[in-house]
Amino acid sequence: MSAESLPIVRSIADLRAQVRAWRAAGETVAMTPTMGALHEGHLSLVRLARTRAQRVVASIFVNPTQFGPNEDFERYPRNEAGDAALLASAGCDLLYAPDVSQIYPQGYATQVRVAGVSEPLDGAARPGHFDGVATVVAKLLNQAQPDVAVFGEKDFQQLQLIRRLVCDLDIPVEVLGAPIARDTDGLALSSRNAYLSAEERAIAGMMNRVLADAAERLRAGDSVEKVEATGRAALERHGFQRVDYFEVRQIHDLSPAGLPPYDGQVRIFAAAHLGKTRLIDNMAV
Ligand code: PAF
Repeated sequence: MSAESLPIVRSIADLRAQVRAWRAAGETVAMTPTMGALHEGHLSLVRLARTRAQRVVASIFVNPTQFGPNEDFERYPRNEAGDAALLASAGCDLLYAPDVSQIYPQGYATQVRVAGVSEPLDGAARPGHFDGVATVVAKLLNQAQPDVAVFGEKDFQQLQLIRRLVCDLDIPVEVLGAPIARDTDGLALSSRNAYLSAEERAIAGMMNRVLADAAERLRAGDSVEKVEATGRAALERHGFQRVDYFEVRQIHDLSPAGLPPYDGQVRIFAAAHLGKTRLIDNMAV
């Protein structure tokens, strides 16, 4: 499908009409919610979605409620035409790019909050962020009513929060996590990588190496405390200016890791700043 022919809908009514038509034809539907500024990581979500349903709808909505007052909502990259072309090339059938009135109409007053899993790590570093994510994801899933929804493991805490949300609110959708897409030096692909200067970009790939080293040390028997302290110090030594966290956490609810054996049940999470850019990444142990 060419970019020009990728259908775009902007209202809940039009979105639901298309999904209804697919269902009436006996087809299943997968959704990949995004905020646009798409890269290979997003396209891998669309490709995974394609393997799980006959139709794929992607959404693009830069959700104001998940940005803090001093974050990058205004300068977040927006390029709908370019994104539509990429989505079409990855096999997407429909782009849902709602007007803000479809998500937060006049008088909108409801917020979804997922306790527990939303509290540590990015929940502590970005107050209110996950309430915005939970609210918009609940709305997008209700609006599209897909059979399957695909989210990236790069935002692993977000993924686990969405799993909890879908379970707690009985939303009839299967949530799938997609592996992290990485650049050749290991840097996790992110729309925010576009903010990095050449010098910062050269440092950015070290986050992945520090995580890999930490995972290795944990497997070799180092304590969680030692691995966390060493990881933090390594990020700072490589030139990251502020480390928000470098922590080992249980995957199901993001609570602190206990003692080994971990049996694949813990993951290491990192967030740190390079200039004006905040990078996050995580690694299975
Ligand atoms: O991961 C993202 O791009 C966003 O947080 C999401 C899930 C689309 C909600 O706005």
